[in-house]
Amino acid sequence: MAKVIVNADVTKGKIYKEIFGQFSEHLGRCIYGGIYVGEDSDIPNVHGMRTDVVEALKKLKVPVLRWPGGCFADEYHWKDGIGPKENRKRMVNTNWGGVVEDNSFGTHEFLEFCEMIGADPYINANVGSGTVQEMMEWVEYLTFDGESPMTKMRAENGHPEPWNIKWFGIGNENWGCGGSMTPEYYANEYRRYSTFCKDYYREADKDLPKDEQRKLYRIACGPNIDDYKWTDGVMKVVGHRANGLSLHYYTVPGDHWESKGSATDFDVREWFITMRKAYRLKELVENHGAIMDKYDPKKKIGLMVDEYGTWFDVEPGTNPGFLYQQNTLRDALVAGISLCVLMNENDRVRMGCIAQMVNVLQSMILTEGDKMVLTPTYHVFEMFNVHQDATRVALDIDCADYEMKGIKFQLSHEGRPQRPDDRKAQMKMPQIVSTASVDAEGALHISLCNVSHCDDADITIDVRGFDASSVTGRILTDEDMAAYNDFDTPDRLVPTEYTGLTLENGKITGKLPAKAVAVLEVK
Ligand code: AHR
Repeated sequence: MAKVIVNADVTKGKIYKEIFGQFSEHLGRCIYGGIYVGEDSDIPNVHGMRTDVVEALKKLKVPVLRWPGGCFADEYHWKDGIGPKENRKRMVNTNWGGVVEDNSFGTHEFLEFCEMIGADPYINANVGSGTVQEMMEWVEYLTFDGESPMTKMRAENGHPEPWNIKWFGIGNENWGCGGSMTPEYYANEYRRYSTFCKDYYREADKDLPKDEQRKLYRIACGPNIDDYKWTDGVMKVVGHRANGLSLHYYTVPGDHWESKGSATDFDVREWFITMRKAYRLKELVENHGAIMDKYDPKKKIGLMVDEYGTWFDVEPGTNPGFLYQQNTLRDALVAGISLCVLMNENDRVRMGCIAQMVNVLQSMILTEGDKMVLTPTYHVFEMFNVHQDATRVALDIDCADYEMKGIKFQLSHEGRPQRPDDRKAQMKMPQIVSTASVDAEGALHISLCNVSHCDDADITIDVRGFDASSVTGRILTDEDMAAYNDFDTPDRLVPTEYTGLTLENGKITGKLPAKAVAVLEVK
């Protein structure tokens, strides 16, 4: 039995649409093959971008897309990816399989792809192996609308007008693949690089109030998982010179990087561990947020969870450097938990970017030649996008714990041994994870994830402060916890109508099956 109270007139701030963002890296078959096939391909495309993928992503309302990496970002030299394709430099992608990168997808192609799918671009620039001048010139190339060497080059490359670029990352994982820096060293580098990322004045903005004129939203490299020293060290030195701080956290069921677990062949124990580790995002956001509060009590600096999602062993027989994995009902639950956590922490979380968009890690879409399939994760993002830019409202839930005693696994409390309390806490989580919001048209949406592999839940939702006259819903679930869509059965797992809901005197009742993600619409 789960009792939910929604106070629809108690508002908790805006759920920024950017929480539903995505990440695309020059990694495996994400860009090449997944998004971009080139104009000469037999696969239907517009300017080289796959038509099937573009159409599927348009339906998803992707608000923001991060590019070009990831670890790739700190090896990427943007000038190699502009101008006539036959002259573009070829390089080795050292992080991801050592393959040749021919730079045929560069700045112009990325920004055209963003326009095609209706997403705002988030560009992550190179601190680790790039220069200040290089970063400064990229910003000038992208955003300046006056006369300069960079704008001349941009016009020669076919784009006289500047683009609208807001989201701008200054380095990626600089504690690791981005340069193995200490927090103090990175923080000082951040100060130097960001000083030269100028906000160029736009004639078209001249009549706008100052705070509405276009400027960069500068994102500093934040911590990995629970590296609280990094957050403290960077916040102390960078402070309000950054608008946002990133956080990376992957859900990896295995205790060892060498055996993360299979994406499709798992048991109940691995299901539980995956749910529990996905839910750990809440603790991480709150703990990093508390450190940020010390330096930014008014919560002006956003926490940008710009890499998260499941990370399993690659599909057998595929290149280990390409991070290609299938996507099951278990991933759908991870997507549901993660989105609910990020939405519920909207006083600090400004953006989320799931890793990654196509063919890499917890993807929305898988492709093979000219075939394409939408994953269960895609369907959760599509169901949940009703919360984009909506107002979160108070939701209290009284439900059972989802527990599994006597199993051993690491929640990866890096840097300190696990204490008995940690062990107890890691063996349970709430059975139902949920969020509620009211959209601009006044409709109330309630998202619910039943994470249990076996227990259905009888649900009562007491809707207060809202004149409820109808309820409808959609649900994603299956008997098989490892159900997935593949190229032969692309619609094995798709959202269906959520039946059996009743509404009487403002109270909704129904049954939420085990291992299900649902969204209710109340009007
Ligand atoms: O998403 C794959 C990789 O994971 C990214 O390149 C890196 O930033 C992270 O370690």
